Amino acid sequence: MSHLDKLVNKLPRHKMVLNPYSYRMAHPVYSKQSMEEIKVTHQKPNSVKDYISYYSVQAARRGFDFFSGYNPDKMNQRDWLNRAIFLETIAGVPGMIGGMSRHLRSLRTLERDHGWIHHLLQEAENERMHLFFFLKQRNPGIAFRILIALSQGVFFNAYFLFYCISPAHCHRFVGYLEEEAVHTYTVMLKAIDDGKIPAWTNMRAP
Ligand SMILES: [Fe+2]
Repeated sequence: MSHLDKLVNKLPRHKMVLNPYSYRMAHPVYSKQSMEEIKVTHQKPNSVKDYISYYSVQAARRGFDFFSGYNPDKMNQRDWLNRAIFLETIAGVPGMIGGMSRHLRSLRTLERDHGWIHHLLQEAENERMHLFFFLKQRNPGIAFRILIALSQGVFFNAYFLFYCISPAHCHRFVGYLEEEAVHTYTVMLKAIDDGKIPAWTNMRAP
């Protein structure tokens, strides 16, 4: 079994889809069953960099939860949409910076990249599609749009700077950020299953 086979076998069952009628990149599509069989795991921090990444994500999460009034028991459809829309505009940034940085490094060092560039750009598009999934249901107002633009200005530049210094550290940071995203969306799905978001109980997914 090749190194690539081993990596692909670690992923849930999926097929790669390239739709000639869409601008989207080729991307994996997972079956509902394989999604539901996923075990939520946690990468234990085991180096100084890991601990810094883990605790900076925890601090960011707690700060954001506090200021945004996160409370899964009381949140309605609009609250969930606001949270998801804002966070997806942030989530789409790291993949693009990683892909761009590795693309530029390949040009600069005259070395091949061996597949990371596409993987990271695909991830950036994946997050942007999450955003449009939620935008089908809500059109943010002017204040929200200004907040999104300001946050992007800060996060893009800070992440790019850190990526120039230590890409591995940044990937670990995003790994922990995604653990939080998995956690939050699991809570959201449970709220839907428990009937706490009536608008979504019987709605077809966009
Ligand atoms: Fe996302």
